[in-house]
Amino acid sequence: MSQTTPLENHWMPFTPNRDFKARPRLTVKAAGMYYWSEAGTQLLDASAGLFCCAAGHCRPEITAAIQQQAQTLDYVPHFQSAHPLSFTLAEKLAKLLPTGLDRIFFTNSGSESIDTAIKIAIAYFQAKGQGARQRFISRERAYHGVNIGGTALGGMTNNRRIFGGVGLPQVAHLRHTWLAENKFTLGQPEQGKELAEDLQRFITLYGAENIAACFVEPIAGSTGVLVPPKGYLERLREICTQYGILLIFDEVITGFGRTGKAFAADSFGVTPDIITMAKALTNGAVPMGAVAVKRDIYDTIVNHAPEGVTEFFHGYTYSGHPLACAAAHATLDIYQQEKLFERASELSAYFLETVFNSLHDLPIITDIRGYGLLAGFDLAPTAQAGMRGAMLQKELFWSGMHLKTTGDAGIISPALIIEKTQIDQLCQLLRDVLKRF
Ligand SMILES: Cc1ncc(COP(=O)(O)O)c(C=O)c1O
Repeated sequence: MSQTTPLENHWMPFTPNRDFKARPRLTVKAAGMYYWSEAGTQLLDASAGLFCCAAGHCRPEITAAIQQQAQTLDYVPHFQSAHPLSFTLAEKLAKLLPTGLDRIFFTNSGSESIDTAIKIAIAYFQAKGQGARQRFISRERAYHGVNIGGTALGGMTNNRRIFGGVGLPQVAHLRHTWLAENKFTLGQPEQGKELAEDLQRFITLYGAENIAACFVEPIAGSTGVLVPPKGYLERLREICTQYGILLIFDEVITGFGRTGKAFAADSFGVTPDIITMAKALTNGAVPMGAVAVKRDIYDTIVNHAPEGVTEFFHGYTYSGHPLACAAAHATLDIYQQEKLFERASELSAYFLETVFNSLHDLPIITDIRGYGLLAGFDLAPTAQAGMRGAMLQKELFWSGMHLKTTGDAGIISPALIIEKTQIDQLCQLLRDVLKRF
């Protein structure tokens, strides 16, 4: 038991509560690439928190921007009123996004971004007179957050096992892109482009006139980093364009330099119609998400409504919160001033090779994948799937590292400021701990 912290009342998310509370792993401080535990142990952060803190922890520029904003304008609603920062932030984001995606709706999380994107897609087709387009396409092993729409889209078994039937029933799932023949491939695998034809099959089965959008994570992150096979995203784009289906990239993990460019859409050279984002938008300092849409989508919805009438009946009390906007402004400035996306691109080969060389010969490792500064590895499961991943996360904490695991996969996604020596330390420590398994 923690000596000072009362643990009973907080129902922790995505956590075995009884196990955690029996031997809690509390973190009390962070700076740069590190966390510190309650006991004072320094932990190398191998996952940028939860893919959030791309510029490293507790950046003074972001802290100062939040402090300043909190004492100037703490809150103003965005329903029929506003403050300038959300507009300037939208303008800044539009410059970073692929050409044409320049209309931005603010949310407070990735999950809210996903549900917002679902509603935008429905509203868009209603406005176009194609209201029958109500069905969505997603993918096995997808993670699109935990709200009702995102749960229906999701393809990770435990997340949907008891909830899959609620919300939007009209979701068909493409096959995932993990293939045994691509094992231990770094970068985009050669095999699997043809899996995109599943979309064509759903169109044949359900009719394109009934399908609104196809959601994919360009790299499926939370399931353990599934990099898209060469040609796969391009083919999805082709099919969506051919049939007037919106292609939606969920870039909640891949956005903001993780793949070596601002967005994975840039890295893979495929432009979707909508991008959802969150996490590294504010470096994790204040919750914020956003949905970027092509101008035609915004214009179609907005121009459909009579003058003076609200065009899109959707929004959150905290959409465009001043503190989040201030944090996002400061974060995007850091990314630009420190050229962190370029840095991620330059470091990528060293990072991926070091991960691979450090882990691939361990018998417990059954696959390694990666792209940019994002790598995933699979552990041979025990009789109880997911136990090994959970054990690894715990063991690493006690050994001086924070790593995100999901099921029996580990996900390495360090802040973009990581040094090569820290990549070496990270991989060595991981290897040392895994050798004990
Ligand atoms: C691809 C993707 N979409 C959506 C989400 C949900 O984001 P949040 O936890 O901020 O609601 C996540 C979270 O990890 C994610 O990885």
